[in-house]
Amino acid sequence: MMKNQAALPGEGLKPEKMPGHWVLAQMGKRVLRPGGIELTWQMLDTLAIGHDDHVVEFAPGLGATVRRALQRAPASYIAIERDEQAAKYVRTFLTHSSQQVVCGNAAETGLPTGSATVVYGEAMLSMQPPQVKARIFDEAFRLLKPNGRYAIHELCLTPDHLDESTKAEIHHALSDAIHAGVRPLTAQEWRTKLETAGFTIAAEVHAPMHLLEPRRLLQDEGLGGALRFLWNVIRNKESRERILAMRGVFHKYESHLAAIMLVAHKTGGANE
Ligand SMILES: C[S@@+](CC[C@H](N)C(=O)[O-])C[C@H]1O[C@@H](n2cnc3c(N)ncnc32)[C@H](O)[C@@H]1O
Repeated sequence: MMKNQAALPGEGLKPEKMPGHWVLAQMGKRVLRPGGIELTWQMLDTLAIGHDDHVVEFAPGLGATVRRALQRAPASYIAIERDEQAAKYVRTFLTHSSQQVVCGNAAETGLPTGSATVVYGEAMLSMQPPQVKARIFDEAFRLLKPNGRYAIHELCLTPDHLDESTKAEIHHALSDAIHAGVRPLTAQEWRTKLETAGFTIAAEVHAPMHLLEPRRLLQDEGLGGALRFLWNVIRNKESRERILAMRGVFHKYESHLAAIMLVAHKTGGANE
């Protein structure tokens, strides 16, 4: 595979200042979602993107899903990515004039109402405060045509009846380790948020939260990518400390953390 020459997000920042996902990216990790690439493939299979689809991806990060989505040759593809460097990086994957990456905010894309048949976003909602989560769901709903499909792949708290003080403790520990506000919801809460925005849940799959476990690393990055990542981590003390701190929190709360993939349909609502 050709090396991507675009600068990586976080370039020039000290590892101790960077959000966790960019520390991982700087070390060579490309798959930055909690359920790994397998849950992503299940999401794409369930979305069943075809030649007639107009696809919007929220927050592609380093584009680990983009290429597979584009292989399905949708009629158009637009990604909305907040980070300018990440947006530039993902632009290098585009192959056709019907595809674009816009540097912007998924809560307010500026795209026309009813212009998409598929919207999806991975590992981008958990890091938003509650009001912004709701705005992003509303924006996905607004963008979709009737019967459009919306998929999310996010961190999930478990079980559904987890008490509020444990939730607060986990939010605090994750945010501290990742250096970004991280507020995952329970499966029930994710479903309710989608339903409140007007969606009907069509599919739900869970996976273990094994982002930094050796087996998942191998699955997500391949042998070469996993070895490169480990080699970089061994050589970079500050990044290693950040990554070990994140892994420590994932381990400490492993019985309460999972990945969730939900596909929802716009079967009713105001802009039908
Ligand atoms: C943890 S990374 C996940 C990247 C990618 N989706 C993946 O799963 O590998 C989070 C991404 O969300 C982007 N992001 C966060 N908030 C956003 C927003 N409101 N609009 C667009 N992108 C956003 C970040 O810039 C980053 O690329």
